[in-house]
Amino acid sequence: MNARSPFFWGSATASYQCEGAWNEAGKAESLWDRYLHEAHLENGDVASDHYHRYREDIELMAKGNQNAYRFSLSWPRIILNREGDVNEAGVEFYSRVVDACLEFGIEPYVTLYHWDLPQYWQDEGGWLNPAVADAYVRFARVCFDRLGDRVRYWATFNEPKWFVASGYLIGNYPPGLNDPQLAIRAAFNVMYASACCVQVFRDGRFQGEIGIVHSFSPVDGIDETLETRIAMRYADNYCNNWIMDTAAKGEIPIDLLADLNKRYDLSFMSSRQLDVIADNTVDFLGLNYYSRTLVKPYTRGETSIVVNNTGASFKEKPRVVLKDWFEQVLDDPGMEVTAWGTEIYPDGLRRGLLDVYNRYHLPIYVTENGIGVVEEINAEPIDDEYRISFMRSHIEAIKAAMHEGADVRGYFAWSSFDLYSWKNGCEKRYGLIGVDFDRDLRRIPKKSFGWYRDFIARESTAE
Ligand code: BG6
Repeated sequence: MNARSPFFWGSATASYQCEGAWNEAGKAESLWDRYLHEAHLENGDVASDHYHRYREDIELMAKGNQNAYRFSLSWPRIILNREGDVNEAGVEFYSRVVDACLEFGIEPYVTLYHWDLPQYWQDEGGWLNPAVADAYVRFARVCFDRLGDRVRYWATFNEPKWFVASGYLIGNYPPGLNDPQLAIRAAFNVMYASACCVQVFRDGRFQGEIGIVHSFSPVDGIDETLETRIAMRYADNYCNNWIMDTAAKGEIPIDLLADLNKRYDLSFMSSRQLDVIADNTVDFLGLNYYSRTLVKPYTRGETSIVVNNTGASFKEKPRVVLKDWFEQVLDDPGMEVTAWGTEIYPDGLRRGLLDVYNRYHLPIYVTENGIGVVEEINAEPIDDEYRISFMRSHIEAIKAAMHEGADVRGYFAWSSFDLYSWKNGCEKRYGLIGVDFDRDLRRIPKKSFGWYRDFIARESTAE
């Protein structure tokens, strides 16, 4: 086991969103490359060009007093084909990134999968195909073998809830499906792959800890009635429990299974797979927190999930209705929201952390937290007081939860620098450092970068 690390004050990125170099040095195509190219949408071909500028970026993190960097590995950069041939240039790139982190005193905190599935596996059915789970585990094994001498923190997946719901239920992410039966199948294959990955990590006696990163959205109800409480349970199962119970306790929530079993075919779940899930639980939970989910009882209509991917110009009314289960309240008059309609609600993080800790008794890392805004890259530093206020209030919420007993061990701001925001493009900026996407990709610190740097310095002296 590791000696206990200091509290991590870091920031985070993901391979597709920041690296660029989409077809350089042997990298294979990912499903996001194919999907965005075919749809002629803004893409991550260049993104923040982190592939070429990683050293400058990591040095900036160190100048900002950050002691951990959460990033992901691009599977198609590392594995060339379905046969599993390794792209040495890809492995060497990540090896250099890890070495740069260590040189600058930064803990590399590595996510194995942040959504960029190789297209050659999407061509075989993506997460609907159990063979993809096996291939993912072989990919993970290569990463442990080649980087495990220097990496001590691993996450199996980033946000299964988000990429499965978006890709297989809502259809706004690749592969663009909206079919609950298929979504259930993909969800199960992902959670099974995660457990197999934990098994390989343990069997290989690799150093360090392995966890999973979840898009955490604590559920609140509009009132205290029985109907609302039932709706809250459905929402919690949908938003949170199928990932956290499965990964941390090795159990898919039994009421969720019973309910799904009435409507869908679950015969594809074998008892052997359920045993692997039960026997291989994670060491920690990574929670990405952007907002809570406020719910009311289901009243009418088909399952319908419409989310804002374009900010203020979004024309449709966002809505989340899960037939017979719950409806999400997105326009409560008291809500303070961003231009994308995301509620700013730090107290959800305090209560949520306590709840998660009390349920699972595992160490927790807040692996993402941030605010996406359209910003002018016109001054140095870029004035982003709202981001400071957002981070300050959320960090205060974390401290309050820790004070009340939650075992939180790190905070990662999303994002280290501006990057590509999936369907929103580069216009939706989250970075502590600005990136001049229109000209030369120059890095320009924002005020929040300096605020975070000084905050970390004060925290380190206080420790
Ligand atoms: C998280 C993801 O869901 O939210 C990130 O892990 C993502 O990859 C972030 O960028 C913010 O979402 P968006 O859609 O605003 O970029």
